[in-house]
Amino acid sequence: MEHKAIMITGGAGFIGSHVVRLFTGKYPDCRILNVDKLTYAGNPANLKDVEDSPNYRFVRADICDFDTMLGLMESEHVDGIIHLAAESHVDRSIKDPFTFAKTNVMGTLSLLQAARQYWESLPERYDGKLFYHISTDEVYGALTLSHPEGTEPPFSTKASSGHHLAYGDTFFKETDKYSPHSPYSASKAAGDHFVRAFHDTYGLPSIVTNCSNNYGPYQFPEKLIPLFVNNILHRRPLPVYGRGENVRDWLYVEDHARAIDLIFHQGKIAETYNIGGFNEWKNIDIVRLLVKTTDRLLGRGDGEDMDLITFVKDRAGHDLRYAIDSTKLRDELGWEPSLQFEEGIEKTVKWYLDNQDWLADVTSGNYLRYYDEMYNRR
Ligand code: NAD
Ligand code: DAU
Repeated sequence: MEHKAIMITGGAGFIGSHVVRLFTGKYPDCRILNVDKLTYAGNPANLKDVEDSPNYRFVRADICDFDTMLGLMESEHVDGIIHLAAESHVDRSIKDPFTFAKTNVMGTLSLLQAARQYWESLPERYDGKLFYHISTDEVYGALTLSHPEGTEPPFSTKASSGHHLAYGDTFFKETDKYSPHSPYSASKAAGDHFVRAFHDTYGLPSIVTNCSNNYGPYQFPEKLIPLFVNNILHRRPLPVYGRGENVRDWLYVEDHARAIDLIFHQGKIAETYNIGGFNEWKNIDIVRLLVKTTDRLLGRGDGEDMDLITFVKDRAGHDLRYAIDSTKLRDELGWEPSLQFEEGIEKTVKWYLDNQDWLADVTSGNYLRYYDEMYNRR
């Protein structure tokens, strides 16, 4: 499918900025419209290197604002939408569930309704259009830890190609029932249901993907990996929830952006695709790897900062294990993760240490000044 104008929501955030960068560079004949409210998590400085591209435009707007969304779709002749804008941090959702329902449910609904109204008003209606909704593996709930007799976790599994070490013998599949536990995952689940309902009721062409934990450059330092690298750098405590036994399946963010590109262009309408790293890690093992890597790159003694690790009260409703089975995406569209985790972590830690100004701007809140300087003078 050739698209002429794609609206990307949440493009100033972590994953969105990688998607905007990829699409702006790879599709010079397609206009890329980045629509982002710039909440605390949005930072236009994440896209410094693309903002002068002739096919790129940034608009600060709230996806909950139906009239503005409809107006933008009409004036820009949007024929594809990649919807990433969301409240994304589980701990914040526990403190303030309303904001999550507002953006992730009502915001998604307002965007769907605007797309439907605009596309239905065109002579060719839905032909060549796509609403691609980015979601999470957390909607499936939590998996258990288990291992076959005679093995110790992590054990080798046949659930994927290559060497996949797992902490359990079950994996999230596209056909699994939803079972969200946190206000964040409940709000994402509701958004996913609305997307599918708009396809089934109105024929709106849509795709949903559910991805595992992403890591890499430009992630807001409230999430495990950038928060801990920043804390190690400044020799602050590393607050590990519970006993650090929870397992997550980690994927390098550029591999996710590559999957989004492939699915946007070659995925089947009305399908769901799971995207994952086949890369399960216990939190405590990641934290130790982060300490070792950060200390080495800073020229400190081997594991010198291990004593920063502090076990704290567990997250409420903390899901024990996530693990994605992305065999469908591999078999149907040929996608696989490209990076080994150790290599990805090395690149990621190095990026944060090389970009301490970015980290300092974000943690101090200074980054919003960049927006004022860049956009208010235009
Ligand atoms: P993020 O928090 O880094 O970025 C979210 C972006 O959305 C920010 O730029 C923010 O300003 C913008 N935004 C928030 N509310 C908005 C609103 N009302 N109107 C317009 N813009 C708004 O998030 P992320 O980690 O990049 O996640 C992006 C998407 O991917 C989310 O939908 C998330 O649920 C999903 N996801 C994330 C991960 C992960 O590991 N980070 C994994 C799977 C899926
Ligand atoms: O699985 C995909 C999801 O991954 C995305 O949908 C979410 O948007 C994204 O935030 C992420 O959710 P998690 O809750 O898994 O990510 P987070 O980085 O917050 O935490 C990773 C693990 O580390 C989790 O088990 C909680 C733990 N943790 C986290 C923080 C911030 C700690 O032990 N200490 C911490 O300070």
